[in-house]
Amino acid sequence: KNIAVVYGGYSSEEVVSQRSAEGILSFIDTEKFQLFPLLMTPEKWVVIRNNQEYPINRADFTVTIDQEVIRFDCVYITIHGTPGEDGLLQGYLKLLNIPHSTCDVLPAALTFNKYTCNNYLKGFGITIAMAALVRKGIAYNTADIAHKTGFPCFVKPNAGGSSFGITKVKAMEDLDAAIQKAFMECHEVVVEQFIEGTEVTCGLYKTADKAEILPITEIISKNEFFDFEAKYTAEKVTEITPARISPELTAEIQNTSSLIYDLLNCNGIVRVDFIISDHQPYLLEVNTTPGMTPTSFIPQQIAAKGLDIKKVFTEVIEDAIA
Ligand code: DAL
Ligand code: MG
Repeated sequence: KNIAVVYGGYSSEEVVSQRSAEGILSFIDTEKFQLFPLLMTPEKWVVIRNNQEYPINRADFTVTIDQEVIRFDCVYITIHGTPGEDGLLQGYLKLLNIPHSTCDVLPAALTFNKYTCNNYLKGFGITIAMAALVRKGIAYNTADIAHKTGFPCFVKPNAGGSSFGITKVKAMEDLDAAIQKAFMECHEVVVEQFIEGTEVTCGLYKTADKAEILPITEIISKNEFFDFEAKYTAEKVTEITPARISPELTAEIQNTSSLIYDLLNCNGIVRVDFIISDHQPYLLEVNTTPGMTPTSFIPQQIAAKGLDIKKVFTEVIEDAIA
């Protein structure tokens, strides 16, 4: 079977996607699948083979290499951010009848809108932090926002990842500058109450045959919060799998992650992030294209459970193709 591993993307997270692709290319069993690294940027969509670039035919997503037209049996998407995590690529591949590794259009689009996704899940009893949404071009009042969230608060692009554009704001006079900074990443900005506690994350995937809920990882950032530097610099963070939390809380977070997966109708490997405060997990966000660098949480959690990572990726790909 021919598998395209699609990376790059059109957002600030392109650099992270490059590293996730390195992970994915090493996690997929090359005895079963033939891999085609496929870089997708605003300038070009190309398969890279022996340091040569082969352009993708955008009408049918095939590539011609040495006069052979190659069709992909499955696309493994490892683009963080647009167009690989927000439903765009998913819709395009769906129109072309090409299976892919991630969620369908609606779950991808919904999860890539933090505010809307969290409020949808709140309707099913999931606990979330207090938050306000501001939109470019619509007047907002920082005093009203601060009244809702208090200080400190987090200001984040509503659609984004890897902490690009995020600021922890401690005082009123800094709120507007943080909102303007987040507007550089996205036309919508979420201002969220700061929840003091322990950050944890739970990966999982489901196929037609089984649900694999992975162990939870506890994150201890050496920076003020789990920012870009802490996310991608080993010395700036301590990650402990399984998290040092009670069996009851572990079960609660795993069950909540599993419920969220089902409520959103997810597919493939997903990671759900929480903050635990006073024994209560608060949902931070759902990632449908989680980081897959060799040291990312998902590979750590797969190893902690004693699973064979190549077998995991075979299951995910075979489920997508089925
Ligand atoms: N957005 C990053 C890649 C993550 O969620 O892991
Ligand atoms: Mg994320």
